[in-house]
Amino acid sequence: MTFDRVPHGPEPVPATDLHVAVIMDGNGRWAANRGWPRLVGHRKGAERVRELASACPSLGIRYLTLYAFSTENWKRSTEEVLGLMSLFARYIKREAGRMNREGVRLRFIGDRSRLDPKLSALCDWVEAETAHNTRFFLQVAINYGGRDEIARATRAMAQDVADGTLAPEEVCEALIGRYLDTSFVPDPDLVVRTSGETRVSNFLLWQAAYSEYVFTPVLWPDFTPETMRQILDAFHARERRFGGVVT
Ligand code: IPE
Ligand code: IPE
Ligand code: MG
Repeated sequence: MTFDRVPHGPEPVPATDLHVAVIMDGNGRWAANRGWPRLVGHRKGAERVRELASACPSLGIRYLTLYAFSTENWKRSTEEVLGLMSLFARYIKREAGRMNREGVRLRFIGDRSRLDPKLSALCDWVEAETAHNTRFFLQVAINYGGRDEIARATRAMAQDVADGTLAPEEVCEALIGRYLDTSFVPDPDLVVRTSGETRVSNFLLWQAAYSEYVFTPVLWPDFTPETMRQILDAFHARERRFGGVVT
């Protein structure tokens, strides 16, 4: 199962082929502002995901990676964690048909082994169900942490060396990229974080080496395709130099 890997280097990325990654933050505050339970914010947030995913191709985004649950989010209350997990399951069941109609290939990144086996099986199912789609690539990060991903990749490489299928001299940046969960997609061009927080919170630590960052005060449940369009205008106005000098 492979996506077309389009390496994004110093060359300009076609404006129709962007990879945007989003740290969807602020659901809890959005709900608290209204005196509602945090889970109401998460439910509203899931609606925003559906809207944005549908709008992406017309915005020039071909790859969208969404941070839905971090390796640190297990620290939250059991009620919130279980609520989020059942929201993920419901989203998959409800959206599979639409994703096929809209040509969306869905993949999950993160460590699936800690998820409930039923949810993990559902993830496998929807990945297989949408595997033939090529119009738009959606990655959802569940139980994802950048450091955990690098640790798992390193363990897999060490195992391959021990098995004699990988030589230490072969380890290079490109090879590391192939062992990461994101090996099927190019690096993100742009990372957006909502809710006014200006930190990375363990998201795509390796892949975002040369991504542009945009931090917006908008809380995720208020984020619309129009918000993304404005952010993309700001992104396109930037000069990406990749360490070089523009002449
Ligand atoms: C982001 O919203 C969603 C997840 C981390 C699952 P939060 O739940 O972090 O919302 P705030 O930051 O508490 O407002
Ligand atoms: C980051 O948000 C994780 C997700 C959006 C899934 P958090 O709300 O968990 O991050 P911190 O705790 O503010 O760093
Ligand atoms: Mg948060």
